[in-house]
Amino acid sequence: MDKIVIEGGRRLEGEIRIAGAKNAALPALAATLLCPGRFAFSNVPDLKDVDTMTELLKVMGADVKKEGGGVVTVDTENLTADCEAPYDLVRTMRASCLVLGPLLARLGRSRLSLPGGCAIGERPINLHLKGFQTLGAEISLEEGYVNASAPDGLSGRKVYFDLVTVTGTENLMMAAVGAKGTTILENAAKEPEVVFLAEMLNKMGADVRWAGTDRMVIVGGKELRPAEISIIPDRVETGTFMAAAAITGGHLRLAGCNPSHVEAVTLKFAEMGCKVAEGRDWLEITGPKRPQPADVETNPYPSFPTDMQAQAMAVLALADGASVVTESIFENRYMHVAEMWRMGANITLKGKNAFVHGVEKLSGAQVMATDLRASASLVVAGLAASGKTRVRRVYHLDRGYEHIEEKLRKVGAKIFRQRDKNPK
Ligand code: EPU
Repeated sequence: MDKIVIEGGRRLEGEIRIAGAKNAALPALAATLLCPGRFAFSNVPDLKDVDTMTELLKVMGADVKKEGGGVVTVDTENLTADCEAPYDLVRTMRASCLVLGPLLARLGRSRLSLPGGCAIGERPINLHLKGFQTLGAEISLEEGYVNASAPDGLSGRKVYFDLVTVTGTENLMMAAVGAKGTTILENAAKEPEVVFLAEMLNKMGADVRWAGTDRMVIVGGKELRPAEISIIPDRVETGTFMAAAAITGGHLRLAGCNPSHVEAVTLKFAEMGCKVAEGRDWLEITGPKRPQPADVETNPYPSFPTDMQAQAMAVLALADGASVVTESIFENRYMHVAEMWRMGANITLKGKNAFVHGVEKLSGAQVMATDLRASASLVVAGLAASGKTRVRRVYHLDRGYEHIEEKLRKVGAKIFRQRDKNPK
């Protein structure tokens, strides 16, 4: 098993190109199941999670070709009779559940191994299933699998989400384009990835209406066709490199990003003393000598994203003062804290709050990541720590960051990947 080794304390300087967004690519790939034909994608990130989703499409009979340079084609002309998302794939990636909506819309049935809990919380999919039921699907659970069926098709209805759910909204959008009549999604997520999916569905011939609020109106039953789609830039990768500049007092130009998708993050880093300049598709950030403290609370978009909480905490761990971080989305997303303690951070946890007392320096240590963004935060911390930081279980990073060590090396970090001779 690989690990990432970082010799910290170097100021980062230079340009990094931002990849396509994992969380936009996954629903977009799932959406190809909605109608037969050949879809062409560009700017697809080279990530483990994307490979898992393409594997899943292949299991369902799709012909998927990774052409290189971020180009992927998916032909969904012929699907297998028993379109089923098996345990082995769902287990490694919860976003596999995104195939439920499109299969239900196209075939009137879908079957998925029910995802269990994961490193950041329980993460049920009850709201997805309740939404499908509202549209007329029957849901049953059998031997760990969810069966959804609507032999006579789905019918448009009003769906109210009890909580804002990103993939839940995406799943319901995809189911609703295949329903008869109009579906209204209330308390829908409005993350950029959700809006991107709405645009993709409209390019395919669907009628998805969204006016920037938490209500989405979908007129179902339109004839769908394949489309050519370019994946939007990854706002979490953008934010993670912003954190890397902030913590090293560095200067980075992030090319090919969308600054309007990271406004809450930009404002928070500005509060920490960073200087940010931006254009339509680029952003430049200069880190301060020492970060200033800032309180951070995660909430659905456009608030500060939970996917940036751990990386922001790494920066605040070195701030000149105390900050409070509040995680309001997931109940267990503080797994990085105990690892940061090992690097000398002074953080106290109480319920959904983390009290971060900035220290003057962090020191390199062996650390182990338990989820994707926690791993990224340990890399960020390692960039500023004195001595060597070894981040184990790098497969989490490979799920969501394209060639992270190469990108950081190009801007001056001393970071490399090492084979773990003693995997555990
Ligand atoms: N929830 C329920 N029931 C449901 C669905 C969600 O109780 O049926 C709860 C969750 O447990 C959580 C909250 O609602 O407490 C919000 O979860 P959401 O459904 O929005 O999360 P998700 O759709 O499973 C996506 C991203 C995550 C990101 C969250 C929040 C994808 C593929 N994943 O997950 O990304 O953290 O939204 O923004 O889009 C990551 O990239 O590292 C990652 C975890």
